[in-house]
Amino acid sequence: MGLLTSVRFQQRRVIPFPHSYKSHQNPDLISQTCNYPIPSARSGRRIPIVTVRALSTKAASASTPPSKMVKAIRVHEHGGPEVLKWEDVEIGEPKEGEIRVKNKAIGLNFIDVYFRKGVYKAHDLPFTPGTEAAGVVTAVGPGLTGRQVGDLVAYADNPMGSYTEEQILPANKVVPVPSSIDPIIAASIILKGMTAQFLLRRCFKVEPRHTILVHEAAGGVGSILSQWANALGATVIGAVSTKEKASQAKDDGCHHVIIYKEEDFVSRVNEITCGNGVDVVYDSVGKDTFQGSLACLKTRGYMVSFGQSSGTPDPVPLSALAVKSLFLTRPSLMQYTATRDELLETAAEVFANVASGVLRVRVNHTYPLSQAVQAHVDLESRKTSGSVVLIP
Ligand SMILES: NC(=O)c1ccc[n+]([C@@H]2O[C@H](COP(=O)([O-])OP(=O)(O)OC[C@H]3O[C@@H](n4cnc5c(N)ncnc54)[C@H](OP(=O)(O)O)[C@@H]3O)[C@@H](O)[C@H]2O)c1
Repeated sequence: MGLLTSVRFQQRRVIPFPHSYKSHQNPDLISQTCNYPIPSARSGRRIPIVTVRALSTKAASASTPPSKMVKAIRVHEHGGPEVLKWEDVEIGEPKEGEIRVKNKAIGLNFIDVYFRKGVYKAHDLPFTPGTEAAGVVTAVGPGLTGRQVGDLVAYADNPMGSYTEEQILPANKVVPVPSSIDPIIAASIILKGMTAQFLLRRCFKVEPRHTILVHEAAGGVGSILSQWANALGATVIGAVSTKEKASQAKDDGCHHVIIYKEEDFVSRVNEITCGNGVDVVYDSVGKDTFQGSLACLKTRGYMVSFGQSSGTPDPVPLSALAVKSLFLTRPSLMQYTATRDELLETAAEVFANVASGVLRVRVNHTYPLSQAVQAHVDLESRKTSGSVVLIP
């Protein structure tokens, strides 16, 4: 309550931007701002949250559109949930190749915690966290075709900055949301669903003959992974921390559910598979489970380490894989949606599975965007299950 109160009574203020970026594309630009990373002309490095100032010194002309203020969550220093500040930020007009999107709903993800803590590094401070949202296009950049004001779009992963009422995005990073899908559902599944897609269909191709282990089976990604793997015909073993989560995981298609606190997951997997082990482990817990996950694999099994909710796993000597000729991968959604075609195809498959009922999106928690602090507290203390959504 203390945390929430301090957020609620925070003063509205304009954020001082730490960087000046000289625009080489349009030297007549006067003091425009953008709230997404742009490439530095010299180094190619991505710089977040910058003020774009022109080389020209002339005063803003009458045609310069006025800056718009929106509310956003900003991080000025790494740390606990309390570093998430609710502030006013300036938003400019979209330039070539860009659109402005008014967010209807924003997906909360564990990766937001990594960036807030500094486990993953944002390019600079302050930054606006968030990598998943759905919203309506409110403006398009000059000459842009294929997107228009009023379109419902969603985006995931890149660029960071979705904890805001409105944001500017590269048009080629958003995907259209089918009219049958509610924006809150879209914001709950675009990142998590595309993650499940690449994990199950491309990173390791799950088939009916496979037995798989899914950690965090009742979480945002885990719930979708379990449902989708079941639909692909695999035998799904889910691992969770509580009885309540076990019941949800069962409902989501896990044939067997292990409760970490009550049973040793390695022994249980051994028992369930009659000593054979599983074909693949999807391990997003990291430090606490990594070694055990390796022990759960059958000969020539696949260790897919795709997250670290409990901390970064210790380094693995190659000899640890040699014992059973194991495969080990540490995949990221970004590399599996690197091209426009990959992004569109992956998103389309997710939305098609939602529309047909193969995937049931569990929006178990919603918070006002201004209360992102509480949402982070709950996510990190393992109180949440399914998808968590912030509403601007
Ligand atoms: N590689 C990629 O491209 C990619 C993309 C998306 C997500 N991810 C990863 O997938 C994982 C799940 O992400 P999510 O956003 O859907 O989160 P989530 O699963 O909704 O929430 C995290 C869950 O982690 C479990 N957990 C285990 N140990 C924990 C600990 N020490 N502290 C806190 N939680 C712990 C908890 O479930 P229990 O209580 O049941 O243990 C908790 O509910 C994260 O590790 C994330 O980084 C990776």
